[in-house]
Amino acid sequence: MPKLIIDDIPVEVAPGTSVLEAARSVGITIPHFCYHPALAIAAACRLCAVKLLDGPVKGIQMSCALPAQDGMVVSTTDPEALKMRSLVIEWLMLNHPHDCPICDEGGECLLQDFTIAGGHSRRRYQGKKRTFQNQYLGEGIHHEMNRCIECYRCVRFYQDYAGGTDFGVMGSAGRVYFGRFQEGPLESPFSGNLVDICPTGVFTDKTGRFRARYWDYQFAPSICQHCSVGCNTSPQNFQRETIKIVGRRNDQVNGWFICDRARFDKAYLNDPQRPRDPRLDGATCGYDVAVDAAAKSITEFVRRNGAGALAFVGSPRLSLEGMILLAQLARAAGGARLSYYGDPDQQQGSVAAAKLLHEENTAYVREIEQAQWVALHALDLMEEGPMLALAVRKAFLAGAQIFLVDGDPIPARNIPPFKYTAVESLDQVPFEGGGKGVIICGCGKKDPELLAQIASSGAKLVMLQPGANGFAAALLTIEHAASPLTELVASGQVKGVVCFEADVPDGLLSQVEVLASADWRRGPVHDKSPIFLPTTTWVESDGTAINCEGRAQRFERSRVAGLPLRGLDPKYYGSATEAVTLHPPRLHRKEVPGGAERDAWQVMAQLIERLGGEPVEPLSGKWRALKSLDPEGEGVRIFEMGLGE
Ligand code: SF4
Ligand code: SF4
Ligand code: FES
Repeated sequence: MPKLIIDDIPVEVAPGTSVLEAARSVGITIPHFCYHPALAIAAACRLCAVKLLDGPVKGIQMSCALPAQDGMVVSTTDPEALKMRSLVIEWLMLNHPHDCPICDEGGECLLQDFTIAGGHSRRRYQGKKRTFQNQYLGEGIHHEMNRCIECYRCVRFYQDYAGGTDFGVMGSAGRVYFGRFQEGPLESPFSGNLVDICPTGVFTDKTGRFRARYWDYQFAPSICQHCSVGCNTSPQNFQRETIKIVGRRNDQVNGWFICDRARFDKAYLNDPQRPRDPRLDGATCGYDVAVDAAAKSITEFVRRNGAGALAFVGSPRLSLEGMILLAQLARAAGGARLSYYGDPDQQQGSVAAAKLLHEENTAYVREIEQAQWVALHALDLMEEGPMLALAVRKAFLAGAQIFLVDGDPIPARNIPPFKYTAVESLDQVPFEGGGKGVIICGCGKKDPELLAQIASSGAKLVMLQPGANGFAAALLTIEHAASPLTELVASGQVKGVVCFEADVPDGLLSQVEVLASADWRRGPVHDKSPIFLPTTTWVESDGTAINCEGRAQRFERSRVAGLPLRGLDPKYYGSATEAVTLHPPRLHRKEVPGGAERDAWQVMAQLIERLGGEPVEPLSGKWRALKSLDPEGEGVRIFEMGLGE
């Protein structure tokens, strides 16, 4: 363990740690542009200069590329180092357009921060600036090449880390260009990370440009809801609108990055057409009126038909809290049936996966990166768990063999960023040394023979789930012997349903009476339901999700519920009798327009009380330990807490 001194502070670090990282470990930030913890070292920008005063190396050195060694005495504030760094900034500023006021990166720009911190304030060079043509890179990312400082972070991420082939560096000497080799949008499904990784404003998020500055946003730690990998995100909200979604670091799950689906697929959160008002028989009403009506309807239905004829239906879209209370609600209704899945195959696949996994055989996402072989069984990885493809790519680059087993042909848009061998069955995968291999299974139905083979392979397992919270839905299904709705209806047992964020299969709705439904989106269930209770989306609520590796993670409310201020109908800033369109609106209301939504689990808790049940707390009993889960932590694997199957 090398011991060195940085700015008079003794530091001890693991072998291989750079001087820059050693300094970070004791809270000293050495200015840098090209260094990024997730990428290989390029030493391209020369900003991280420090002076080595004593020890095995002396003089001005690039701290990102210099491994810490015993006996080094490092100064980050030596006048020679400061001079070098200020000259680097001045030389970068020869060509940078100084357009911070009209740059969407302003306020969250590393170049802006280190330029100001370094004291550069006067342009001495009178010559012209170098300029470039920008490219159209697609609907997600705007390109502004004049701002480039040639740190090579983008190309190291896009090509080396994510395996993209359509973008790179062109030109030479003082005229290098970072862009697409041909016209057209960026092809990598991870391209949005260029926005986060570029230390200046070359790549900005087109879907949220010029809406707000960094300090305007409301943030909270959150979890992506698009698949069961459970990547950590940070939604950036302004005036009740989710403007951008960026990756949030979790070294156990997604590292620093997220896929483009997580970043760009967000319009639904802001949709002014989302159902926002409680409704009773087609007319809007107060929330409590709708809850009372739902409780009454449930009571009457049970009296007429018996509790067994009623099913409470959820889905993997619910938070863990919602799933737990759904079971309590079914009990409070006299022992009604419970369903977390519409489709039997989906339930079978999800439950079988949860039953198979335990502490020893479940692979951490990080373990995939270190595998000697990886078998992808019956799945389209880029569709079902895109960020896992980057973990498999790391293993591939380190020499692992990758097998695609029993898979359908992969569509051209979903070709993963690694080479693989297609085989017909798991028999063709060399299981020797199984502990160093990983099998990744898709979320479809699983036959018993396959499950037995997987279980005995000795390999570590990743079992993807249908939906962000599929693992939790499987656990609750097992605990409460819940059944797929299709089976409950087909058997003739269930005649009425109450749905919470449920996706009822086509054709089933005509066979049952929908007593009430609660959701944040419109759909056939919403249309058929005489009582409707609008719920919040994941950006407007607190909750817990369990990802495919059994990791419980907390997401926090990052904005209040309600209609986005942008485009708000003038009737909302009028008086009770008159629509006033004065600007700026000077009328104040007690309630947020369209802000009646409640978290699904809160609605359930109210219904439980109306039905005569005790007040409830979702994370109680065996789930109590999850109450103290830190949303900014790495989550906790439920097996370690004894909460698995
Ligand atoms: S485009 Fe951004 S990330 Fe790429 S080299 Fe230029 S400054 Fe660096
Ligand atoms: S891999 Fe899945 S969880 Fe991760 S960012 Fe993409 S869609 Fe979201
Ligand atoms: S951060 Fe060290 S040379 Fe760029």
